[in-house]
Amino acid sequence: MNLDIIIKSGIVATASDTIRADVGIKGGKIVILAEDLEDDAAEIIDAKGKFVLPGGIDSHVHIAQPSGDGILMADDFESGTRSALFGGNTTIMPFCLQERDGDLRSAIDWYHGIAEGQLYTDVAFHLIVANPSPQVLGQQLPAAIANGYTSIKVFMTYENLRLNDAELLATFDVARQHGATMMIHCENEDAIRFLVERHEANGDVAPKAHATTRPVAVEREATHRALSLAEIVDLPIVIVHVSNAAAAEEIQRARQRGMKVTAETCPQYLMLTAKDLDGMDWEGAKFVCSPPPRDAAEQEACWLGLQNGTFDLFSSDHCPFRYEGTDGKMNPKGAKNFRHIPNGIPGVETRLPILFSEGVNKGRIDINTFVAVTATNHAKTYGLYPKKGTIAVGSDADIAIWDPELVRTVAHSDLHDGADYSPYEGLTLKGWPTTVLLRGKVMVRNGHLEGQLGDGAYLSRTSGAGLIKILDEK
Ligand code: URP
Ligand code: ZN
Ligand code: ZN
Ligand code: ZN
Repeated sequence: MNLDIIIKSGIVATASDTIRADVGIKGGKIVILAEDLEDDAAEIIDAKGKFVLPGGIDSHVHIAQPSGDGILMADDFESGTRSALFGGNTTIMPFCLQERDGDLRSAIDWYHGIAEGQLYTDVAFHLIVANPSPQVLGQQLPAAIANGYTSIKVFMTYENLRLNDAELLATFDVARQHGATMMIHCENEDAIRFLVERHEANGDVAPKAHATTRPVAVEREATHRALSLAEIVDLPIVIVHVSNAAAAEEIQRARQRGMKVTAETCPQYLMLTAKDLDGMDWEGAKFVCSPPPRDAAEQEACWLGLQNGTFDLFSSDHCPFRYEGTDGKMNPKGAKNFRHIPNGIPGVETRLPILFSEGVNKGRIDINTFVAVTATNHAKTYGLYPKKGTIAVGSDADIAIWDPELVRTVAHSDLHDGADYSPYEGLTLKGWPTTVLLRGKVMVRNGHLEGQLGDGAYLSRTSGAGLIKILDEK
């Protein structure tokens, strides 16, 4: 058959199976899986003792978005996708953010413009609707969904992004009518404002106040309300970045009522706690993200949610800001008051090694669950499956080869993002990706970049695929 590449002697794992197989690649696709592939191939990659996994899909990544205070994120598409690639990912899904005073159409054009030619991984875009004006809901959003922007994030928090209940319902209704998937950031902004004012009145303005002004009840209430509003419209939804047991229970109860809901958690809710925000000086700012990290009991609840299927998705919510400098977490206002610390932490490169080491290698989840929650379910939820997210004949040859025994300690100097720190600095992890292929091209080989800027491509989606379908199969 004259294959381009054979990946030999590895352990191939998908969301359902683990097999000893060789993988034959031709024309960017997986064309054959066989126990002992005898063929002329231009290249043989030896994967003995390694796992051969679908490239990671990180469906929750922020790139080049401004914060509420106009501070720009630390990653553009070049650094963001390079960092993702080294972390074992072959597709990421960032957002086209409509600003409150901007329109959706120009947001889509702007993000495409800055991504063009700047990709090391494939990319599909979600939309963020921050101003559901009659023009946006009546024309721009339906047109965008028809053009393949079939997933939309809305916020119940952040002064500059939040939608009120009437706006949520109206936006949900358009998504329902046009077949889009809704991702919801669930935190009650009015409750947060109330607590922020109380903290400020008491002089509690250090980074740790970020956690105490966004307690579990703030997230639980908004999760319950989002689920109720979606139930009223009969809209399938994704509850993103769930941080605690109470919110997970809301999701389980909604499922028991027959609601179509899927949910996501992130590394920060497994690995960090609110204590990290209480560091020396303003170091706690490095861990400011929303919802905030909780405590050891909630970390266990998040592990349980991955084990029992409450969480189908494990994403990074990579949202990188520098720590130092006037344009980072220590900006002049942010260095005085927690409410001006831009929200979000970097993590696209450490997402998979964290779950592999702490999950698979420590026996909390099996390798098939790892593949499901880091790749396959993302492709299914957002309409990219089976082109992406699995190792099967006909799928894109997006593959990460993992050394399950490789031990490395996280150091930001070894990472490839545009931030100046990692929240996981000093964490020793066992199991790292060493070689990554994108559509059959070796992009990273034994830890060294071989791919070129521009090798990644924009992935156009079609409407109608995605969440409704996957939930109907359950
Ligand atoms: O703090 C966070 N998570 N910032 C990123 C934006 C979001 O809410 O996902
Ligand atoms: Zn969010
Ligand atoms: Zn996010
Ligand atoms: Zn501010």
